[in-house]
Amino acid sequence: MTFIIGEPCIDVLDKSCMDICPMDCIYTGLRKNYINPVECIDCSACADVCPVDAIFPASRAVTEEQRAFADDSDLFFDSILSGREEPLGSIGGSAKVGDIGADTPLVAGHPKVVS
Ligand code: F3S
Repeated sequence: MTFIIGEPCIDVLDKSCMDICPMDCIYTGLRKNYINPVECIDCSACADVCPVDAIFPASRAVTEEQRAFADDSDLFFDSILSGREEPLGSIGGSAKVGDIGADTPLVAGHPKVVS
């Protein structure tokens, strides 16, 4: 199992989740963060601190939107994102790469904008 960051994170990017993650397995795109499903140890610490309740266990992805963001989370690590030459994969910590600067098509095309 892993945890998923859903739609409420888009354009909020509070990043409290990154500060508390013991595995450094939360990666920053352009408009949203993504949890690496291989590196996540399911501790749930991130879900407890997110101010917009964006994080949920993959096993509780019951709505169509939640399932879409669960699949999208895999895509962030397994596909070649805009401006990159290869998939990010599992590199053992977001500090090694810093902000990725790109999102999946689902997130990049999302209309949400927070004022
Ligand atoms: Fe996003 Fe919440 Fe983390 S807004 S960056 S999932 S603390």
